[in-house]
Amino acid sequence: MKDLLHTADLSRPDVDLILSTAAEFAEDPLRAHSSLAHRTVAIYMTKPSTRTRLASETAVAHLGGTPIFIRGDELQLGRGETISDTARIISGFASALIVRTYAQSDVDELGRAASIPVINALTDDDHPTQLLADWLTIQETFGTDITGRKFVYLGDGNNMSHAWLIMGAIMGAHVVAATPEGKWAPDLIVVAKAKEIALETGATIEVTHDPESAAKDASVLYTDVWMSMGDPESERLEKTKVLMPFAVNAELMNLTVSDSIFMHCLPAHRGEEVAAEVIDGPRSVVWREALHRRTTIQSLLYHLVRGEIKVR
Ligand code: CP
Ligand code: NVA
Repeated sequence: MKDLLHTADLSRPDVDLILSTAAEFAEDPLRAHSSLAHRTVAIYMTKPSTRTRLASETAVAHLGGTPIFIRGDELQLGRGETISDTARIISGFASALIVRTYAQSDVDELGRAASIPVINALTDDDHPTQLLADWLTIQETFGTDITGRKFVYLGDGNNMSHAWLIMGAIMGAHVVAATPEGKWAPDLIVVAKAKEIALETGATIEVTHDPESAAKDASVLYTDVWMSMGDPESERLEKTKVLMPFAVNAELMNLTVSDSIFMHCLPAHRGEEVAAEVIDGPRSVVWREALHRRTTIQSLLYHLVRGEIKVR
């Protein structure tokens, strides 16, 4: 596999390889400090980012390379140069391209046209690198035997809910997305894809609209912002009202198992999708999860550039 364009591109052996190397990078960030020596990695983002940008630039630096950060409005792409011409040019200079933008189809086209690895650093539909950090955090907490455990996402049926279902399917987990019905439920094509992967891995994929039954006996409650980057402001009031029952508060956490954790990709809005006492409380692993954005992106870059990730 040249690129990581979709969470569903990953096979279980890919994830195991990436996570085991990431755990080593967590112990010793500089253990492969010259693997990208004298090389550059382009990071192109048309949406804001705190974690993914810092994690990516730090990961490249720890591998001995130089990150080149390019904002959305800085390329000729915005003035009519084609995606494929842009991909061809970047391929001539950089060893990999990390890209965050709106349309998944733009990232797919960059992947097709570039000769270097292209990594999806978030689109409207997916967020594969986030899920690598999430699963490293889950394995650190519970180990690799997840029998009998339930992993629950609550909130908007957005890019994060999609990536959560697909990665849970790959990991053979019992994953749940508890979202409103209709407009803010996960995409049915993604749910079908998760179920297809689950047939191979033994995962259980569940979509529900009942937050309490979802939270009952869960090992993880995960949530995300209610307004994603690019969501129309005109929908804020209606969306907030519909999502209110899915807010992760102490009452929902009390329904979970005794060693449960709270996770969030961040940024968080206390008092909206999560109560302050939960995200800032003893069960929250969000800071460790955020730090693993670096260890996992470092591992992904290390293996992709060496051509060590196999096609699913
Ligand atoms: N979780 C995440 O992707 O954060 P950023 O938007 O800050 O990169
Ligand atoms: N769903 C959020 C995730 C941010 C990391 C967004 O797309 O804005």
